[in-house]
Amino acid sequence: MCGIVGYVGKRPALKILISGLRRLEYRGYDSAGVAFFEGSATGSKIHIQKSEGKLENVERLLDASPGRYEDVCCGIGHTRWATHGKPTTQNAHPHQTGHVVLVHNGIIENYQTIKAELIARGHRPQSETDSELLGFLVLEEMNRGSSLFEAVRKSFQRLQGQCSVVIMSEKEPGTVIGVRNGSPLVAAADPKGGAILASDPQPLLELAREVVYLEHGDIVVSNDRGMRFYDLETGAPVERHPTQLEWSADRLDKQGFPHYMLKEIYEQPTALIDTLNGLLDRATTDPFTLARQPGVELLERAKEITIVACGTSWYAALLGKYWLERWARIPVNLELASEYRYRDPVMNEGTLLVGISQSGETADTLAVLRKSKKSEIPTLAITNVRGSSISREASATFYTCAGPEIGVAATKSFTTQLLSMLLFSGALMLKPRAAAVPGDITRRFDDMIRLPHVLSDYLGDRSGKMASSIRETARALQLSKGFFFIGRGYSFPIALEGALKLKEIAYVHAEGYAAGELKHGPIAMIDENMTVVVLAPGDTWRDKTVSNLQEVKARGARILGVGSASDSELKSMCDHWIELPNVQLDEAFMPFFLTAVVQLLSYELAVLKGTDVDKPRNLAKSVTVE
Ligand code: G6P
Repeated sequence: MCGIVGYVGKRPALKILISGLRRLEYRGYDSAGVAFFEGSATGSKIHIQKSEGKLENVERLLDASPGRYEDVCCGIGHTRWATHGKPTTQNAHPHQTGHVVLVHNGIIENYQTIKAELIARGHRPQSETDSELLGFLVLEEMNRGSSLFEAVRKSFQRLQGQCSVVIMSEKEPGTVIGVRNGSPLVAAADPKGGAILASDPQPLLELAREVVYLEHGDIVVSNDRGMRFYDLETGAPVERHPTQLEWSADRLDKQGFPHYMLKEIYEQPTALIDTLNGLLDRATTDPFTLARQPGVELLERAKEITIVACGTSWYAALLGKYWLERWARIPVNLELASEYRYRDPVMNEGTLLVGISQSGETADTLAVLRKSKKSEIPTLAITNVRGSSISREASATFYTCAGPEIGVAATKSFTTQLLSMLLFSGALMLKPRAAAVPGDITRRFDDMIRLPHVLSDYLGDRSGKMASSIRETARALQLSKGFFFIGRGYSFPIALEGALKLKEIAYVHAEGYAAGELKHGPIAMIDENMTVVVLAPGDTWRDKTVSNLQEVKARGARILGVGSASDSELKSMCDHWIELPNVQLDEAFMPFFLTAVVQLLSYELAVLKGTDVDKPRNLAKSVTVE
């Protein structure tokens, strides 16, 4: 959601703020702004430049006064994703209230009460946001004689809801204060003196490798000498230890690809290898031996598993359910986090609650984990972000190792989630309950180790056979009125994911269906302007899916088949054809190849439509509000 950056030190602050905000653009935003002390940090006047729309608008405002801001060495910045009030310049952050200026991420739940009280005391908020109100509270406290630090602490006692804030005051030039009260905030000391704060680690990478993830209820005070941490409630100093970041800044660049999303699709084989290396015990060749960590014991003890997730992560969980049930014979319930959190679910004893979230910040998934923890149900998180809220909340966490994913649409984070599900299915297959044949276990494990390599060969490069055939197909289909993606068994979750990807980045109407469901309604939509993407690898469900293909073909739909290279019968029924690799792998691995196809198809259609592929409209990468 909203992105926050703050910097104070000896370097040119505006450059750091703008490039930091750029690194946060992937979160999705609709307005942006910066606030800074004009001149040196000891100058007392804070200047604000903000605008609706893209960050370029703010840069243009700054460029209008060339050279004027070169000395600036203390400031804060923000990218806003509107929750309270429209995405206008007026509502954009930073917000100034008297000598207090702040940026905010999250929601002040009791803002209406606070607003009414402030108005009754004669204040006149200028924006529709909840964020601005905090500035008035801080100003009032400072007018009563508090320091900025004390004023922030006291004001937070009035707030309900989860948020993080970075704040400065003209009365205390050269100090930037940050608060984590739920929503994430990270801080790093600048080796040249000073500190940088941000809502996630990406903006910090250019300055530092050692970052501190603030705990919930921490306040950090930074100036050109460094930073100190305190408890928000008591004001007492607290010690926080830095974490070494594994992500290097150059991995964040596009490396020659036209879009991050495309680069991330091609990074999937590497992301799979990294995830295997992270989760498996590589010291042994015994199949499916997980690296010892607290989560393994929780998994092994579970009698039943309930998985909660949202969006693409939910589709990964759906496929996980299929694998876990088939391989490990363990009952799995699957739930949308946003529904589950407000229901009265009945949980059997011995149930393990698993939350899957690439960002580790999704509000609904986090809320379910919190609630379960309160009820003493063991919880396990699967996420791509170390130090994320979900990883901190769960009893134990498994990390996927997809690396930073900048494109808003999930790609490599999804396939690494799939892989972790597959690994757990394999690990639990070793339990007596599963009664698996040893030969099967070894064969599946060997296939899993081969998977990244086979996927890499299949993807080839941008000029290879697979990429070219998908590009050509996209050109032929670009005028379709709509798309149905259909599949059965292991292909069904990928049909859902394919339709979601297409909606997300190409803004084309698309639906994913279990192929057997078509006749129960959706088939009424079929005519010659519709394309049906049939996911039918040569697996257990292939023949059934082909029967469904015939039903839609008979009603005039254009058929794009995705199937085994040797399936000439299927190929002959299709108007367009994309073949899967001609290799012997267990059918459980087909979804990885199907995923690559639907990702690239959506990507090519989006490029043809000219959409903003990496930052699709209305979407955010990390959804920290309900
Ligand atoms: C957002 C993202 C999706 C993601 C969903 C769940 O909508 O744009 O790509 O699938 O949130 O996010 P999570 O971080 O919990 O996986």
